[in-house]
Amino acid sequence: MRVESLSGKLHFKERVRLMHRADESNQEQLNVAYRTACGLYSTPVAAVTARVESELFGATVNSFTSLSLDPAMLVVCLAQASNTAKALQVGSQFGLSILSSDQETIARTLASRDPDKMKAVLLRDLDGLAPVVEGAQSQMACHVEDIVPHATHVIIIARLKAIEYDPTRLPAVYYKGRFVLRMSERHDGSPIPPELRHVETL
Ligand SMILES: Cc1cc2nc3c(=O)[nH]c(=O)nc-3n(C[C@H](O)[C@H](O)[C@H](O)COP(=O)(O)O)c2cc1C
Repeated sequence: MRVESLSGKLHFKERVRLMHRADESNQEQLNVAYRTACGLYSTPVAAVTARVESELFGATVNSFTSLSLDPAMLVVCLAQASNTAKALQVGSQFGLSILSSDQETIARTLASRDPDKMKAVLLRDLDGLAPVVEGAQSQMACHVEDIVPHATHVIIIARLKAIEYDPTRLPAVYYKGRFVLRMSERHDGSPIPPELRHVETL
């Protein structure tokens, strides 16, 4: 209750402030408020991984979503500065792995710019199409159909080519800049081991 009323108050303040300041001279404040607001909703976390000319690339992303179910298409937004974005082209294949709740370390590793980071992540080839993260909740091989650059980012539009998933695994959940998990049992009803219970008290 305390947190709910506190966040309600913050929301209200931000809204009033932005109504007065959303002009060009205050773009930076608008951006900060936007970043804060984006942190206030939870997202799943995925890894985009690709092998291009035998070199491995990978980035942690939460900007992915389904574009359509039939045909099975998805989009993911990557910063143009990302090495993974630079490696992908129309016609490339990449892996999209929805990370499991116990894969925070992998998410942090792939979010780094460490040139050796790909050596630290266990990958496997999905159906000989693309590398995916071992142990991820869902593993998908995707074919890039279009890349739309906009400002600092590119929107990658891809078609699903192969998928495997484990419904008993819980997804990694990112909220307010942290990995959180708010469930006490797996989907099949079995208890989550204590070391995986990252339950956060608000
Ligand atoms: C939870 C989380 C979500 C992220 N989501 C994105 C994203 O959607 N798009 C993006 O470009 N970067 C995202 N990043 C940052 C990239 O993972 C990071 O810039 C990474 O260093 C890119 O690696 P690369 O340059 O080797 O491709 C995210 C980071 C974290 C921790």
